Amino acid sequence: MSDTGRFLREFARDPLHTAAIAPSSPALAAAMTASLPDTGDPVVVELGPGTGAFTGAVQERLGGRGRHVAIERHREWAGLLRRRFPRVDVVYADVATLPTVLADRGITSVDAVVSGLPWAAYAPGRGLHAMITDAMTPTGVFTQFAYSWTRWAPPAQRQLADLRAHFGDVVTSPTVWRNLPPAVVHRARQPLTRPPRGVIHPPPR
Ligand SMILES: C[S@@+](CC[C@H](N)C(=O)[O-])C[C@H]1O[C@@H](n2cnc3c(N)ncnc32)[C@H](O)[C@@H]1O
Repeated sequence: MSDTGRFLREFARDPLHTAAIAPSSPALAAAMTASLPDTGDPVVVELGPGTGAFTGAVQERLGGRGRHVAIERHREWAGLLRRRFPRVDVVYADVATLPTVLADRGITSVDAVVSGLPWAAYAPGRGLHAMITDAMTPTGVFTQFAYSWTRWAPPAQRQLADLRAHFGDVVTSPTVWRNLPPAVVHRARQPLTRPPRGVIHPPPR
């Protein structure tokens, strides 16, 4: 079965979590991975890799450097990714377990997070952006795409507002037209860290 066939079948079965009728295009993958560090050995975490549209682009950017962990909640797709990308550490799990996934691997600092997740993963109360910023190095970069035609919908607006509340610098790309449907990329830097538990900051003067 083609990857588009896989998406169509899964979208019919579970539209909320699949959230797409086709895998992302190479053009969107290029935009999503353009800001990955091009030197050193970065730790890259990919969220919701699906059938690997961004996974291949991340691997290409890394060129054998660093570490690439991918977290996917669809069991079959996680297996498919392991076969396609033997160098990637594919974890079959929900992204809500991100802190445990990283701790199990001894990862204390993440340089880049590439997310193909749908709105549902950022639903209020899940605290995903806070988990992401907690895991990131201060110079880290986070990318998330949004379909252009739904980006003004309340869940998309809520997700973007939450992203802005967790990063000091959020920039949205021009529309990537060569994708079905067209999409934009939100690129976030300057993760805002939370004070450690029990520490109460003095009120501003
Ligand atoms: C819109 S698809 C994007 C797939 C791929 N990144 C792409 O762009 O073609 C969303 C992906 O996120 C996965 N996903 C959704 N919710 C998730 C969660 N809570 N934890 C892990 N993966 C999740 C889905 O199974 C699906 O593979």
